[in-house]
Amino acid sequence: MINVAIDGPAGAGKSSISKAVAVKKGYIYVDTGALYRAVAFYALNKGVSPDNTSGIIKLLSELDIKLEHRDGQQRVIANGIDVSDKIRTPEVSMGASGVSAIPEVRTFLFDLQKKIALENNIIMDGRDIGTVVLPNAQLKIFLTADAEERARRRFAELKGTEGVTFENILEDIIKRDENDMNRAVSPLRQAEDAVLVDTTDMTIEQVILHIEKLINETENKER
Ligand code: DC
Repeated sequence: MINVAIDGPAGAGKSSISKAVAVKKGYIYVDTGALYRAVAFYALNKGVSPDNTSGIIKLLSELDIKLEHRDGQQRVIANGIDVSDKIRTPEVSMGASGVSAIPEVRTFLFDLQKKIALENNIIMDGRDIGTVVLPNAQLKIFLTADAEERARRRFAELKGTEGVTFENILEDIIKRDENDMNRAVSPLRQAEDAVLVDTTDMTIEQVILHIEKLINETENKER
């Protein structure tokens, strides 16, 4: 099985790029951020704040999360309910960053990520995939871009959504970077053997082609 790990900060384009490359290569795309989002979404619905560590840990014992892949699309199922479309709000984004700092949450989601990688050719994106979840991935990429550029891209995607301003988005991105890089467990960082791809001055198409080329080279090496 070929495992490709793609890590990087919020808004670097990991998911759209990984998704597109996975389709071209016939790999399964695994978006691990969705798992942390599902935990945050469940907690927020139950009225438990993402920074209430003991409350979140208690919730884990009643929570069952599954990943399904249908027509190339990942679906996240929390206690039997498909929450995939409800976990993309700014509140859930920040909540996911919060719950992801709790070691018990990371352990809770670990086996699920590991198992899917053992059984499939995958492109898995997240924050700690190359460093912790799949340290033996055949290809590791650290995808990044300037914070301002990442905020510009997010803003372009969300334009027209009520209450969304460029300044809010930039602020959220900087805050999430800070949370994700400075937490004690599995912080966001580039694995030593990861290839750095800075997409600040690249188009999406250029990044997709570049990563596809890196995967082709990896496949040739593995053959
Ligand atoms: O990739 P994303 O924006 O959907 O991730 C949401 C949050 O989840 C992110 O701020 C940090 C956390 N996360 C993590 O800690 N480890 C991962 N492998 C993926 C996401």
